[in-house]
Amino acid sequence: MAALSNTRHILHANQFDVDFLGELFEQAAWMDRQLKAGKLDELAGILRRRRMFSLFFEPSTRTRFSFESAADLLGMRVRASENAGEFSSRIKGESDIDAFRVLAGYGPDVIVVRHDGTDQLPAIAADLDAAGFSVPLVNAGDGSGQHPTQALLDVYTIQAELGRLDNLNVVMVGDLANGRTARSLTYLLAKYPGNRLTFVTPPGLEMREDIKKYLSAQNVGYVDSHDLTDALSKADVVYVTRIQVERLPGELAELPETYKQVAGRYRITPRELNLLSRNARVLHPLPRVGDSAKQRVKRNGEAIEVTLMNELAPECDTDPRAAYFRQARNGLLTRMALLQWVVTGKF
Ligand code: NCD
Repeated sequence: MAALSNTRHILHANQFDVDFLGELFEQAAWMDRQLKAGKLDELAGILRRRRMFSLFFEPSTRTRFSFESAADLLGMRVRASENAGEFSSRIKGESDIDAFRVLAGYGPDVIVVRHDGTDQLPAIAADLDAAGFSVPLVNAGDGSGQHPTQALLDVYTIQAELGRLDNLNVVMVGDLANGRTARSLTYLLAKYPGNRLTFVTPPGLEMREDIKKYLSAQNVGYVDSHDLTDALSKADVVYVTRIQVERLPGELAELPETYKQVAGRYRITPRELNLLSRNARVLHPLPRVGDSAKQRVKRNGEAIEVTLMNELAPECDTDPRAAYFRQARNGLLTRMALLQWVVTGKF
């Protein structure tokens, strides 16, 4: 869809090519140097007085704050709705198509949106194009579909930590059926030669067929595995993900039991870190789940509370191979670079 329009929508991780990624990463590293040198005035000139709208229909901490901070640092003005599902007119029955046409009419230079529907943003972007708006839409995560800007920061982190993006053994652990970050990351890893993927998932949460078909078509090697120990011993990168309890299938009443069966099956603790090579890295898009934390899951007006299980022990945090907090900060840098490109068309 993005290819058909002249507007720089960011909808799917697969729309980026390796040359673009290289330029974006250079620019993100430049942003980092500017920030560290305290050149805030210079940065704030880059998108001065340009305007960003930010609409989040699902919860977010990192993605929202890093996008909004990136925009602030580049001099943009930001209008944000952090609970757009409840605070927008959707609650009165307005369609997203109508809402986005109205917002586009207020003249933003970019609209960042976290959507609760899977794969619906391309149609919204196409509608804006057809209606004559040239405002880019940036997908900040859509249901269990895509999370292209997370994939950018994940790959940037691998490059920054390991110095390369090819010939890597990447082990993805957790809920790969519902986690959009792993899905998007897979598309980007498939663009570099020699990468091999191992998907370690509890039964029923395997990486979905659309991604596997894509990997096969690109001749990228992948395996499904239930043997975490074996996978870790060969890993360059371990990408840990949370079980997406809110997206698990089945009846609401059975959810605590369904969750218990899949969560806690694969957990990264210092014991697992011992299996990793010295140069490996552990990534996690975050949030990780606190042990015994509770999450309320709502479906069709009913709610249930589920007791959660941790997937990445806090005791791992002091290990130099634990890169997830550095990874989270990289979200600011990559989103600064991306906003610059989306709004101006160049770096
Ligand atoms: C992820 C997301 O929202 O998909 N978080 C993020 O953006 N860093 C991961 C998750 O929710 O598990």
